[in-house]
Order: sequence, then C-alpha cells, then structure tokens
Amino acid sequence: MPKYNPFKPGSIIHPGMFHGRIPEIRAIQNAFFQTVKGNPTSFLIHGERGIGKSSLLFLLDNVARGAIKTLDGITLDIVTVNIELEPSDTYSELVCKIAREFSRVLDRNEVIRKSMSDLWDFVTRWEVLGVKYSQNALRPEVLIEELAEKIIAVAARLQQRGSGLFVFIDEADKAPAQANLGECVKVLTERLAKRGCCNTAIGLVGITEVLGKLRKSHESSVRIFQPFELKPLATEERKSVISSALAEAASKNGVATTIDADALDLLVGVSEGYPHFIQQYGYSAFETDEDNTISRNDVAVGLTKENGALHQLGMRYFESMYSGEIYSDDYRKVLQVMALHPEQYMSRTDITKQSGLKTGTISNALHTLTKKHIILPMPGKKGMFRLPSRSFAVWIAAYKIIQNAAANEGTDRTSDPQIGSPAGHP
Ligand SMILES: Nc1ncnc2c1ncn2[C@@H]1O[C@H](COP(=O)(O)OP(=O)(O)O)[C@@H](O)[C@H]1O
Ligand SMILES: [Mg+2]
Repeated sequence: MPKYNPFKPGSIIHPGMFHGRIPEIRAIQNAFFQTVKGNPTSFLIHGERGIGKSSLLFLLDNVARGAIKTLDGITLDIVTVNIELEPSDTYSELVCKIAREFSRVLDRNEVIRKSMSDLWDFVTRWEVLGVKYSQNALRPEVLIEELAEKIIAVAARLQQRGSGLFVFIDEADKAPAQANLGECVKVLTERLAKRGCCNTAIGLVGITEVLGKLRKSHESSVRIFQPFELKPLATEERKSVISSALAEAASKNGVATTIDADALDLLVGVSEGYPHFIQQYGYSAFETDEDNTISRNDVAVGLTKENGALHQLGMRYFESMYSGEIYSDDYRKVLQVMALHPEQYMSRTDITKQSGLKTGTISNALHTLTKKHIILPMPGKKGMFRLPSRSFAVWIAAYKIIQNAAANEGTDRTSDPQIGSPAGHP
C-alpha cells in the first residue's frame, strides 16, 4: 500500500508544519500593528532560493488576514493583496498586476463590499487601468496615480474600523530592469504618504539580488523597507520540521513511521538547515523506507539513488548551473574545493593547490564553469572565483559526504564523515 508522504519539496509549507522564523514573525507582526495604527511599515524578506521566503510570506499573509492568530493570540483584520513578479513584467504591467489583484480582493470580500457600497462605483471603475492592451502606451505615473486614488479611498474606509492594507510582492527579484520596481514602490509609497494615507504598506520578497535591483531602479528605494534576511534553520528547528511531518504521516496513514536517531542526525546534518533540502531529503528518505522505520541507510539511498533527492534538488534549484560538467570528475573536484569556502572568493592558485589538478585542467574547468555561470568571477579582479550561493555549496558537499559514507559503509563505521564541515565550518 502506498503511504502518504508528508514532506513537501517544491511547494510552500502550510502553517501547521512551519517551524522557526520566530524573530522575523514577531518583527513583521509589529510592522502590521504599526501600519494599522497609522505608522506604515514596509518590510523586505530576502535570502537564498529555497530558504523559505514564500512559506514565511504565506504564514504572514494568514496572520495579517486574521486566519491565524499572532504569536500573542491577537486576531488581525488586514486586507492583503498578493502578487508575484515575472521576468516579462514591465513597469505598466507591475502597476496593473497590483490593480487587478486589488480589485479581485475587494470583489471577493463581502464585508468590504458592504461597508463601501457608497464608494463602490468609484473604487471599481478604472479609467486608465481598465483599458486593456493600451496601458503600455500610457505613462506609468498616470497608472500609479489611478491605483493610488483607489487605494487611498479604500484605506480611509479601512482606517475607520482600525484596519489597514498590505500589498505583498513575491519573486521581486524576477522583475527585469524595465519593471522599475524601486521607482514604482518609491512613487507609490510617497504618493500615499503625501495624501495622508498612513495605514497601507508593502511587503517585498525575493532572493538577495533584489536589493541591487531596487537600488539600480531608485537609489533610495531600499530604505523604504525594514529588511529581514532569512538564514538556515537551527538544528532543533530542523528536527521539529521532521517530527511534525512524521506526526502528520502517522495520522493520515494510520500507521506511524519513525526515524532512527542516527538517521535523523544525518538528515538534519546534510541539510545544513536549508528548508528545501530538509523537505527533499525527508521526502526521498520516507519514500525509500519500507519497514516504517527510516534508517541511516534509507536516508543515504534516498539522497543518492537515481532521481533521488540530490538529483531532484539539482534540477529544481540549480538547473541553470546543473549540467553534465558537474559530473566530470575534474570539474567536480574544483567545485568541491570551492565548496569548502562557500562565501569567499578563491584564487586560481589556491584552487590548483587544494585540488591537486594540473594547471591546464584547472584553466579549462574555470573557463567552462564561469561561462555556464556555475561559478562567479570576482568583478574587476582576475583569477578569483566563488560559488554563486551557499546552498549550492551545501549541495555539492552533500554529494561528497554521502559518497564517502557509502564507501565507508561496512568497512569502518566509526570513521563517519564530519557532517556539515565540508561547507564552511572547518
Ligand atoms: N519554516 C519552514 N518549515 C518547514 N519547511 C519549510 C519552511 N520554510 C520553507 N519550507 C520548505 O522549504 C521549501 C522551500 O520553501 P519556499 O518557501 O518555497 O522557499 P523560497 O520562497 O525561499 O524559495 C519548500 O519545500 C517548503 O515547503
Ligand atoms: Mg519563493
């Protein structure tokens, strides 16, 4: 009988299975509170791909709307508008996306519709933004003006009942330069402030690159936001993720699946706290298990087997870097050496020394890996390279650990590899 697998690689985690992020939740709840009280507080959640940004935003959206209580047991009642950006978005499309979603939210919300029946015509009749296809011909300021008008009207009504409005923008890093995201948020927030609309704010979410993009679009736009950088989960939080998943599986399957202590240590260790690694490793280990007890071997096999966890992660998260080259022994050696220092640039000389490869091989490897954006050269300085993200380093290191573990299996069980050390904690 197939069993329900409680791990969720590749999809947002639902709040019941969410762990960690308490300081961020507390601070952003405070931003909600400040905003409804008339001190608009916008925030920016950033971090690596797969660190859990969208899942945190989903949880916060539920808290803002009052579907989930705050950490202090308070039920908020904020109107939220959620959009995601795409690489094809233009400035006009960005404004239109917010406007469209804003309209949808108002339309769906019975309470708001009733409380604004006298304003309904004004709020729902879009002059410029309603004209399909021609928006790109209009100046973005005209579009923003109209959006601001409607927001101001609705926010004023919300203020009367002690509520406010939040616009959440996920995948903000995907916006291309022509979307002019920094300029857009700057103009919109300034316009609202000038008109005395002070219970509306923005929550922006994206990989850390988004900071540079915002600055490029408008130098001071970053300062609008209170920033939160998400880091890997702590060991106890990782363990909680796994125990809630197994608890859910037990209740859905009617039979409990347990995990051996050494298997749990291996799983949380090689994940290094990246939530997407925990989910993927957990998924594959659960799937590999046949006797309702996840063993160390189930974890190792789940990770390395064909279409196993490392393969899946490679395809999902490192796709742009994921290519046959990584499986060439020499190139992999270069990457493994670089994974020892994931946050620093390494010199060609050090890479050569530590890998023990020939100079010619190193040159070819560095050239190809750079060309494919698998490694990044240091701007303005020749012969220095680093990996594009820490999670990529962790992924490379996991391969090595598991291979070593497999090689040691059966021969010398005491010489277990040092979990975690290859990716930067020497
Ligand atoms: N706090 C958390 N607890 C448990 N699992 C999480 C948590 N945050 C994220 N995940 C899981 O990690 C993976 C990546 O999360 P996601 O929110 O999509 O990351 P991002 O938006 O940063 O790329 C998903 O499979 C999700 O289910
Ligand atoms: Mg996301």
